[in-house]
Amino acid sequence: MTAEDEALVGGMVNVGAVFRRGELVERPAPRNARALHAYLLALKQHRFDAAPAPVGLTPGGREQLTFMSGDVALPPFPDWAMTSSALESVGILLRRLHESSAAVAVDARAEWPRDLADPEGGTMLCHNDVCPENVVFRDGRAAALIDFDLAAPGRSLWDIAMTARYWVPMLDPESAAAVYPPGLDAAARLRILADSYGLSAGDRAELPGVIEQATGVCRAFVARRVGGGDPIYLQALAERGGWERWDRMQTWLVDHRQTFTAALLN
Ligand SMILES: Nc1ncnc2c1ncn2[C@@H]1O[C@H](COP(=O)(O)OP(=O)(O)O)[C@@H](O)[C@H]1O
Ligand SMILES: [Mg+2]
Repeated sequence: MTAEDEALVGGMVNVGAVFRRGELVERPAPRNARALHAYLLALKQHRFDAAPAPVGLTPGGREQLTFMSGDVALPPFPDWAMTSSALESVGILLRRLHESSAAVAVDARAEWPRDLADPEGGTMLCHNDVCPENVVFRDGRAAALIDFDLAAPGRSLWDIAMTARYWVPMLDPESAAAVYPPGLDAAARLRILADSYGLSAGDRAELPGVIEQATGVCRAFVARRVGGGDPIYLQALAERGGWERWDRMQTWLVDHRQTFTAALLN
């Protein structure tokens, strides 16, 4: 690190290890960096320019990517990031990603991380971690997706479910109040996300169930990190209310399944 480097904050996994150096970002390279960089290049060839371009890998196990200029919302999430039009722009951007991603053949030899992957698998690479910290905004609209570390093959619906968890958010009111602005109407916002993405009727019918499934996968991910003694995840779990919070979120999803289905389909 030199005096010109600027530490970037946002995520939990690489906290303290992501730096901006001029037009480049340097961060720990994921294990599958070669395959991931090839994917990011292929996305560009398929007209998706809203992701960082890979620039290089250092012998020290770090990767260099282009810096995407704009604003990234960090918790507690500001009002500007949670407006209806911001949400709509996330749905539009995710659709654009999927249209390009579907045209890129998945490298079957690569070891795509299972952490947040769709248990049902799929033929397209999903981002899997479209949380506010991984979306760059310009002029109030989602302009780029970053941090493809957890990308893995899956159904497009899986990526929408994951995105809904973070952007609606699909959280019980008490959990949402901790980091989101007050008054967000989950059912109405889920509909906005589905409409802006252009979700089919069949996928709409399945979405509430897939969000429950995705929440279970996220809980298992946290459990593995905590079980492995990861101090950041241990602290976050304790600060946010432990497993009780996860129980509450999951109960809330089941209790409101009909409401979400109705909001999506009517
Ligand atoms: N290519 C990029 N362009 C712009 N900002 C970036 C880029 N990569 C990372 N950042 C910023 O750094 C923060 C942390 O980086 P990220 O790669 O998401 O780390 P983590 O793996 O810990 O989530 C992001 O939330 C974002 O604010
Ligand atoms: Mg991140």
